[in-house]
Amino acid sequence: MVPAAIIVAVILDRHSRLSSADLKARLKGLNLSDSIFTADQITEFVDLMQVYEGAMYEISTKLEILDNEFQVRFAHDPIHHMERRLKSVNSIIGKLERKGLPIAVESIKDNLFDVAGIRVICNYRDDVYSVSNYLSAQSDIQVLRVKDYIKRPKQNGYRSLHVIYAVPVFLSSGAHYTPVEVQFRTIAMDYWASLEHALRYKTDLPDARLSEHSQTLLDCARSLQNIEVQMQNIHRDINGAPVVEQTPKTTD
Ligand code: GTP
Ligand code: MG
Repeated sequence: MVPAAIIVAVILDRHSRLSSADLKARLKGLNLSDSIFTADQITEFVDLMQVYEGAMYEISTKLEILDNEFQVRFAHDPIHHMERRLKSVNSIIGKLERKGLPIAVESIKDNLFDVAGIRVICNYRDDVYSVSNYLSAQSDIQVLRVKDYIKRPKQNGYRSLHVIYAVPVFLSSGAHYTPVEVQFRTIAMDYWASLEHALRYKTDLPDARLSEHSQTLLDCARSLQNIEVQMQNIHRDINGAPVVEQTPKTTD
């Protein structure tokens, strides 16, 4: 019997729980056109954010259940930890503006698929593919979009598997299929992405230094990938967890 205290995947909430009063105050603080200021629009927006929050919890619970099953069956934790966040009001509006889209609740629903986001940091690359495939196979959710930057890393060296799921959130009005963006990556990929992200926002460096660091980061991405493969092979040899290597497919 595995002690209950061990069966815990750590979920880090990047933001505190939603409070309608808080959201309303923040919306009012933004200097937006009158249209979004109507009481109806604010209520609609707060309602929508609650649905996204529900969807985020649904998916993270599913991931925790899978992680617990692996612990019991294979004495192995595929998930090191998870981080989850709802996009802030400011970044939602900023993204709509950048894309030249209307600032309205319908526009968020139709165009933004990363309002609810979960980052799943796994121990090994096999875990990334096992967990993402087992989640994708669940009959109540749909896989809307898949980007496998592990098999095809970005030019800068970025690696992660991005999957957008649609999960039903049951309200009094019925099931609302709601998108959640899940980024699956290993600890090494996360370690790399954090530094690359920090470098990207470091605008006060001279161009030459910036490009030198970018090149070094690309070399680091390759080295980390080699180390991961070697460590993965040792782990496969000593642990009986399933080996799954294919990229999850979108639902037809
Ligand atoms: P946007 O959502 O508008 O950014 O476009 P997209 O949906 O086509 O983007 P994509 O799925 O490629 O990436 C979305 C998220 O992945 C970003 O918000 C980051 O969290 C992460 N990401 C993507 N590329 C990079 C990268 O090069 N470096 C780092 N550190 N993170 C990245
Ligand atoms: Mg995105």
